[in-house]
Amino acid sequence: MSNNLLKGKRGIISGALDANSIAWKVAQRCHQEGATIVLTNAPIAMRMGEIKKLAEETNSEIVPADATSMDDLTNLYTKSMDILGGKMDFVLHSIGMSVNIRKNISYPESNYEYFMKGIDVSALSLHKMLSAAMKQDAINDWGSVVALTYMAAQRTFPFYTDMADIKAMLESITRSFGYHYGKFRNVRVNTISQSPTKTTAGSGIKGFEDFYNFADKIAPLGNASADACADYCVTMFSDLTRMVTMQNLFHDGGYSTTGISQEVMDKFSS
Ligand SMILES: NC(=O)c1ccc[n+]([C@@H]2O[C@H](COP(=O)([O-])OP(=O)(O)OC[C@H]3O[C@@H](n4cnc5c(N)ncnc54)[C@H](O)[C@@H]3O)[C@@H](O)[C@H]2O)c1
Repeated sequence: MSNNLLKGKRGIISGALDANSIAWKVAQRCHQEGATIVLTNAPIAMRMGEIKKLAEETNSEIVPADATSMDDLTNLYTKSMDILGGKMDFVLHSIGMSVNIRKNISYPESNYEYFMKGIDVSALSLHKMLSAAMKQDAINDWGSVVALTYMAAQRTFPFYTDMADIKAMLESITRSFGYHYGKFRNVRVNTISQSPTKTTAGSGIKGFEDFYNFADKIAPLGNASADACADYCVTMFSDLTRMVTMQNLFHDGGYSTTGISQEVMDKFSS
């Protein structure tokens, strides 16, 4: 179904690794809604080749960029403006990686080199993406930037380890840069705080499957899917949400404001 919500708009979508990636669904939906897009991911992710299928399907080009490298990000905007024929109207930051999580290291035992790597890849990368864009004036007036986050930034989820602190930083950068880009070009910057979703990054978290089921039973609407997240991203990229900026927007079926559900109570009834 298309409502042409993004007709004539140009955008960059990062983070589509495979068909499970949230960014993959966002790219498909943006294409359906009439946008032209450039796909980007870390050069190492390119080698897996999956992204080429998405590029064919969405009639888009791929510009590799390591999101920790200002040179790569500068090149990403230069090339994207060239390929798409003008400045961007939207950018999706869908990048997350924690070596501490990958290596199953508990929060108190965090390795600080890995911690710093996680900050650079998953939080500072948003600052760098925005800074590289601003330096080239690569985003149109009233453009929209969305980064994906998780509620562990507000409430403790022990298995989310260092990513909780990293997401808190991502959300803070959203507010801080949102102010400056708002003043500069009326560009809005927001985070969407998504339900647990079965992707490569999500499933890498210890106990993810159990927690996925728990969250699904707490949220009155159940977990929000990656497809639903893509729909939400489309609305945030559209002109219908022009005055929303510097916000953390929960997209979680009501999980974040539910204390307990009857289904979970029933599990404990004696
Ligand atoms: N899956 C979940 O449960 C969930 C919930 C809330 C938020 N999120 C967030 O959604 C975003 C997307 O994750 P996903 O779940 O779709 O998983 P995913 O593994 O499909 O996507 C993560 C992406 O980050 C990319 N990436 C890693 N290092 C990079 C670098 N240096 N430069 C550029 N790209 C790099 C990977 O190649 C991959 O495409 C992440 O920010 C994640 O934290 C996920």
